[in-house]
Amino acid sequence: MRILIVDKDSATVNFLQFELKKAGFEVSAASGGKEGMILAWRDRPHAIIIDPTFTDMPVAEFVQKLRGDARTSNRILIAFSSLRDPQEIQHTIELGFNQYYTKEGDALPMLLKSLSELSERKVEDQHVTDRPSRPRADMKTKEGRLVVFLSAKGGTGTSSMCANIAASLAQIDKGASIAVVDLVLPMGSIASLVGYEGPLNVVEATRMTISEATPAYFQDAMPKIGAWGFQLLAGSPDPGEANDLDPSRIPVILNSIRQSFDYLFVDIGRSLSRITLPIILVADQVLLVMSTDKAAIDLTLKTIKYLESKGLEREQLYPLINRAVGLEGLSKSETEKTIGMTIPGSFPFIGGNFALANNQHVPIFQKFPGEMEAIAMREMTVEVQTKLKKRVTQPISVSRS
Ligand SMILES: Nc1ncnc2c1ncn2[C@@H]1O[C@H](COP(=O)(O)OP(=O)(O)OP(=O)(O)O)[C@@H](O)[C@H]1O
Ligand SMILES: [Mg+2]
Repeated sequence: MRILIVDKDSATVNFLQFELKKAGFEVSAASGGKEGMILAWRDRPHAIIIDPTFTDMPVAEFVQKLRGDARTSNRILIAFSSLRDPQEIQHTIELGFNQYYTKEGDALPMLLKSLSELSERKVEDQHVTDRPSRPRADMKTKEGRLVVFLSAKGGTGTSSMCANIAASLAQIDKGASIAVVDLVLPMGSIASLVGYEGPLNVVEATRMTISEATPAYFQDAMPKIGAWGFQLLAGSPDPGEANDLDPSRIPVILNSIRQSFDYLFVDIGRSLSRITLPIILVADQVLLVMSTDKAAIDLTLKTIKYLESKGLEREQLYPLINRAVGLEGLSKSETEKTIGMTIPGSFPFIGGNFALANNQHVPIFQKFPGEMEAIAMREMTVEVQTKLKKRVTQPISVSRS
């Protein structure tokens, strides 16, 4: 297995080179970002160990270039750094690293353990390639469309819309593979909505090592949800589990899933945070679900302004009125005036019918075939799909903020 070290400190380079060679790895080294990039693209190392403090280019640009180039987009990037400040560390991870180690104490054994796991995986992969009957070895990277569901206020129907639009899309685009990931904290609700009770969820996924959480793994392991036509990575099952979630792993997991599906739908709910912002900013479409009460619209406007200040483009935004809570409220045109943009999507208030479908764990199109509910959902889905034909994406883990 080939490893590249990028570190301006020659003592670290010598030390790592010695230890890694002793452990059987093929090692090369660069003292700065520019040289590192040339070597990375020429040699395509399996893993790159980077001290992010080099000075000839910003490390954010370095990571972005590696992640944005097909030769290195899926390589393992490991930060090996003497940064101490937790905020700086978090910021560095969010640039798109798979792992982070502080240069001290037991860092070396941990680094070696992680690398040897990776190399075992590689050997396994080679065996797989030898046996043509095994699927996945030649799995093509898809870079599926990323659709994020977000709301500024709770209970507006974000999760219902996410699951149902995904299900309608599965109906419309029959050959497409669709993944739904529930990122709502501290508890997800899509699993109970669709009736999934299995063990795999997003917290479990964050506990997996980099060599386990591969695109092929998610394609195989994420359960297919019968009538819904998509595969699900359920949300955190309870707040206690959510406390265990390692947020730095989320971008890596989403990137892996995105590589093996045509569409990736992510329910973020109201949890606009440092973790979810980078995901929102690189989405092909952000479905902003709102109700028409004054408070919800004011909060939605604030959310739009905030996202735009962070670099979200108008063309990424898809505001959607869902009259989840009742018929009272502003009209569509009043709402459009307040938020300053046209609202392409709307879904009517359907009273207890929505809860009826949800309680039976079936999608709207199946519960009310041919009826107004199913038609409205389909129309909205077709529009979203049309917008999705145009790509606005980048790798998830590169923060633009
Ligand atoms: N258009 C609608 N008409 C009637 N009821 C609806 C409609 N949309 C959603 N509902 C109902 O509103 C409730 C809340 O929906 P949902 O859980 O999808 O909202 P949410 O925005 O995800 O909530 P949370 O903030 O808790 O994540 C559910 O009981 C659902 O059945
Ligand atoms: Mg929800």
